[in-house]
Order: sequence, then C-alpha cells, then structure tokens
Amino acid sequence: MVLSPAEKEARILGVTELWGDIVAKRAWGWQKSDPWQRRLLKCQDRFIILNCSRQSGKSSTLAVKAVHKALTTPKALILFVAEQRQSNEDLRKCREIVSAYDEYLREKYDNKMLCQAITDNITSIEFDIGSRIIALPGNEKVRGYSAPTMVILDEASYLKDEVFVGIDPMLEVSQGQLILASTPNGTSGFFHTEWTNPRYTQFQIRWNECPRIDPESIRRKRLIYGEAYVKQEYETEFLDDISSLFSERALLKSMDETEAPFTEDMANIHKVLQGEVELI
Ligand SMILES: Nc1ncnc2c1ncn2[C@@H]1O[C@H](COP(=O)(O)OP(=O)(O)OP(=O)(O)O)[C@@H](O)[C@H]1O
Ligand SMILES: [Mg+2]
Repeated sequence: MVLSPAEKEARILGVTELWGDIVAKRAWGWQKSDPWQRRLLKCQDRFIILNCSRQSGKSSTLAVKAVHKALTTPKALILFVAEQRQSNEDLRKCREIVSAYDEYLREKYDNKMLCQAITDNITSIEFDIGSRIIALPGNEKVRGYSAPTMVILDEASYLKDEVFVGIDPMLEVSQGQLILASTPNGTSGFFHTEWTNPRYTQFQIRWNECPRIDPESIRRKRLIYGEAYVKQEYETEFLDDISSLFSERALLKSMDETEAPFTEDMANIHKVLQGEVELI
C-alpha cells in the first residue's frame, strides 16, 4: 500500500515521541529525548505534575507536547500559564517547534507539505484546524477562557494560589489535561500540596538523572550557594525554610547571559559559574 505524504505524516504524528524527536532535533539539535521526556510526550493522563531539576528540559518538552496537541486536535485550546516572561518564553519554544516542523515537511516533500500557523503573535499561535496555543500571565485574566483542552502551568510553584483556584473549575467542564511543572519553592502554596495529591501522574527528575548536567557544576553551586539551594533547585526537595534562597534566586536570575552582572562580587561569581576562573 502506498501512503500519500499526508497519510505518512499522520502516522508519524501518531507516535508522539517519534515526532517529538524529529522536531526537537531540528529545532534545538537534540540527539534524543530523555526517557522521561518521551514518557511525558506520550502521557494522556488528565493530571500530570512535574517536579524536576532546573534545566532538565521541562519547558522545552512541554512546548513539544503543546504543539503536538494543537496539530492533532481540531479546535484544541492550549493555555500556557506562567509569570509573563516565562509564558512568552514557552510560546517562543512552541513557535520554534512549528517552524522546525514546517522546514522538515517542506524539505521532505519538496515544498508540497507545510505547517504554518494562520495567526502568530506575541501571545498566541493559531492553526488552520482551529486549535490555539495561548500564553497567559499568571494572574486573574486566566479565568476568561472556557473549556481548555490542556492547561500547562510552568514554574507553577511561583504562581499564586488564586491562579490555580481559578483554573481547576475550567477543566472540570472540558475534562481537559492539567500539567503543573516546577522546581519546588518551599512548603506553602498549591504546587507543594498538589505534589502529594494522588490524582496526578508524577514526574520527578533530579539533576543526576539528567545527562546534560555536569556534576562539577553542581559541586560549584553547592560551594557558592549552599546545600539548601542545590537541594531545592536541583534535587527537587521541598524545604521548610527557604528565606535565604530568595536572594540566591534573584542573584541567579540577574545572571542571565543577556544581562550584565551588576556588582563586582556578582561578576566574580558569574566567572566561577562559567568556569572562567577556578574556585579556591
Ligand atoms: N533531551 C535533550 N537533549 C538535548 N538538549 C536538551 C534535552 N532536553 C533539554 N535540553 C536542553 O536543555 C536546556 C534546558 O531546557 P529547558 O529550558 O526546557 O529546561 P527547564 O527544565 O525548563 O529549565 P529551567 O528550570 O531553567 O526553566 C535547553 O537548552 C534545552 O534545549
Ligand atoms: Mg523552564
């Protein structure tokens, strides 16, 4: 039986983790998704919670999952809810996946098949089958959307409880999928409570289960920021006393590659983290 290009691609799309590997390789040069990332891509459970190390690949894998859902479910409404900058970043990752898939299709079928959004702006992407991916800041605006197919809360432990309380009822009606993803942030707040709620399928990935995190960089972080910091950000632990961690997190955020460190001390720490100077 000879399959048409559309039938062939529909079959590939039908194997989510295979499709994910194709687009993530093209978009970001991944050799292969990690086993937990493949499980997450396939997972159809209604309630999913990810308590995973920094930089383990949460946001990227969720972007692949979101685009896959949008391309395979007519009229799907997919919401990314996070602090504004984060949800914009999540949508940017989705956009990268869409262009990678478009490039793959054009190349394979000599420009006769493509994947293009019909609307693409700073806060949303819409496809010809009527599906949409929308990035929302984690505030009261979230309430305005009805019957979502999938709601993803990225960096969930940094969102207010009110945001979560507003989302849960929307999903009751649509029976949509809810995905909470974060590193821990203390023992108060909904992310901590939901972590032990049995309705969720859990994903827990510590830094040493992530092949791209170098033990040496963790050793340095332990020395510079302390044990508690590493436990929370890389070892997925919910700590009781996190007051000292707030300043550390702010410090790290200020170390974005795009932002210059603003004191000499921070510049030095930055150099150590980048491996430019040895820690004595
Ligand atoms: N399977 C993989 N193969 C190669 N690179 C990967 C893989 N998974 C993730 N990455 C890369 O790791 C980096 C971190 O990914 P991502 O931002 O998705 O992680 P995160 O867990 O959301 O991080 P953060 O905690 O900082 O928000 C990115 O550069 C991403 O492309
Ligand atoms: Mg992330």
